Amino acid sequence: MELEKELVRKAKEIDNIITGYLPKEEGYQKKVIEAMNYSILAGGKRLRPMLMQETYRLFGGKSQVIEPFMAAIEMIHTYSLVHDDLPAMDNDEYRRGKKTTHAAYGEAFGILAGDGLLNYAFETALMAFDHEPGNKNIAKALKVLARKAGIYGMIGGQTADVESSGNELDQERLEFIYQLKTGALLEASMLIGAILAGATKNEQRLVEGAALDLGMAFQIQDDILDITSTQEVLGKPIGSDEKNEKTTYVTFYGMEQSKKDVESLSRRAVSRLEELVVKNDFLVRLMLHLIHREK
Ligand code: IPE
Ligand code: IPE
Ligand code: MG
Ligand code: MG
Ligand code: MG
Repeated sequence: MELEKELVRKAKEIDNIITGYLPKEEGYQKKVIEAMNYSILAGGKRLRPMLMQETYRLFGGKSQVIEPFMAAIEMIHTYSLVHDDLPAMDNDEYRRGKKTTHAAYGEAFGILAGDGLLNYAFETALMAFDHEPGNKNIAKALKVLARKAGIYGMIGGQTADVESSGNELDQERLEFIYQLKTGALLEASMLIGAILAGATKNEQRLVEGAALDLGMAFQIQDDILDITSTQEVLGKPIGSDEKNEKTTYVTFYGMEQSKKDVESLSRRAVSRLEELVVKNDFLVRLMLHLIHREK
């Protein structure tokens, strides 16, 4: 099947899984739940749950135990976007083709919906124990999820990113930001897939390295698109980085070098995976497809 069509089909399947785990919009907390569901159902490529599921399949995983983790990683990713868009952060009005959560529900509910999604992600991931109470890999996967989302992962990267606004950056700090703010959740996605499928430590190391390269490439491409794309295609405003006086990979290394590095980092990610005995052709095609993604 043509990759584009396959991506749409898989994203729909993932949407169904995520929807099954969303909280009901009822009770005195109805408004925050509405804002949470609005943010997560607004769309998005579902790349992180897709990478998780495909890595799980790569190592022969077949059970439903992966599903609560797929929903959880998308909840954490969505919360990171909701907070990233807040007036105190990037101050953006559109996301996934719709008004951002704070623009639609007010700033307090932007904050609360993000908090709600983060916490609900762990409530959801913990449901994996309902499927397989004795599975020790679930605890290992939870540990990865917690760490990669936190100060040694995504939040750490966002911290350094916010501090960099309007300031000069050196190469080391720039890499730190990209590896953490974006790389960490991609690492969590692929690593959790590997762990739950029972991959060995060595296999996990390879997967983590591949995801890190892929995450760097993904964020560089995000910066490129912030300059070269349109809001209609991206579903979010362009020029956000310039508005916030961000030194990005593109302003630091230039457009040509950035495009080259997206390609070489992505290819290196694929070649790391190719060191494995096991194969997943779709996963490789997906990773290569991201080199030229337009949204
Ligand atoms: C946007 O992520 C934020 C970055 C880490 C670059 P995505 O480009 O995966 O956004 P959605 O999930 O498709 O909306
Ligand atoms: C943010 O990077 C990555 C996150 C952890 C949310 P950006 O600020 O560039 O992401 P977009 O462009 O708003 O999606
Ligand atoms: Mg940002
Ligand atoms: Mg942003
Ligand atoms: Mg961006």
